Amino acid sequence: MEYRVLGRSELRVSSIGLGCVTFGREADVEASFAIMDRAVERGITLFDTAEAYGAGRSEEVVGQWMAERGARGKTVLATKVTHPLRRERILASAEASLRRLRIDVIDLYQLHSWDGDAPLEETLEALDVLVRSGKARYVGCSNFAAWQLCKALWQQDVRGWARMEAVQPHYNLIARDIERELLPLSADQEIGVLTYSPLGGGFFTGKYRQGEAVPKGSRMDVAPGMQPFYFHAAGYRILTGLRAKADALGTSTTLLALAWAMSGPGITSVLIGASSIEHVDQAIAAQALGLSPELRAELSAL
Ligand SMILES: NC(=O)c1ccc[n+]([C@@H]2O[C@H](COP(=O)([O-])OP(=O)(O)OC[C@H]3O[C@@H](n4cnc5c(N)ncnc54)[C@H](OP(=O)(O)O)[C@@H]3O)[C@@H](O)[C@H]2O)c1
Repeated sequence: MEYRVLGRSELRVSSIGLGCVTFGREADVEASFAIMDRAVERGITLFDTAEAYGAGRSEEVVGQWMAERGARGKTVLATKVTHPLRRERILASAEASLRRLRIDVIDLYQLHSWDGDAPLEETLEALDVLVRSGKARYVGCSNFAAWQLCKALWQQDVRGWARMEAVQPHYNLIARDIERELLPLSADQEIGVLTYSPLGGGFFTGKYRQGEAVPKGSRMDVAPGMQPFYFHAAGYRILTGLRAKADALGTSTTLLALAWAMSGPGITSVLIGASSIEHVDQAIAAQALGLSPELRAELSAL
């Protein structure tokens, strides 16, 4: 496992991070504990959750695991706050996350997405209060367009407030728009980039067949809102090309899609999702596989 500095912060994070959205949902407490145990065994130190995951249940499961395993010192813990991003709500949400996670300080506190209805200054000031009061070590954002992150950085700079040290965007063989503006901005401003859904929530494993019902209990069954992003002609065309390449190389679409996401230039850590310990092992295997620049270019061309 490689470890990288996040933005200009003092946090060092594993180049694979464990996304915790499945905990208390697809994965019960026992399965979640096994996944987190395996992740730590394999060198993963970054854990990403959110108040929105299972309405706080994911944070509770992570908090219980950390307390029972005494794992706090070995992990970097990131969580997120959801709309509305108003001052009092952000401050109260952070307190609630701290309680569920059973910790005193959140390593990285992220805005889950842009809130066009909340005054940005108010949102950013609240984040600064959290850092100054020792409730959060660093702050970041997720699902921000480059202009939104740029505007936030500018206001934080002008006001002398804690700046965004990380951004968390969607990135995989279908979700590629960050290559145009967000990644160059992040490189220029030294912002850590934590990408999510390298497997498209499981789409690139090939478990979803065009025109067939989704497997019961799978991600696309539990979170059907993701389906329109992947289930379309272009998505299946990319998957078919990926399968042809995997067959020719004697590997799997899963490993290739993960390795592609992990080899993206300018990415600090790739957040994987898992509903079993084998999924953690596969992500580690994909990292070991690596991708030559030529193979990456071929897959990008899909
Ligand atoms: N900021 C945001 O808005 C946002 C949005 C999404 C995710 N995230 C973060 O990013 C993390 C990762 O996202 P993601 O969970 O969508 O990532 P992903 O790696 O694209 O998808 C994970 C899902 O794919 C399936 N899977 C994973 N490995 C597999 C394997 N080797 N073989 C077969 N199936 C496999 C599992 O679902 P099944 O077993 O159910 O098929 C697993 O839950 C999340 O946990 C969360 O922390 C953030």
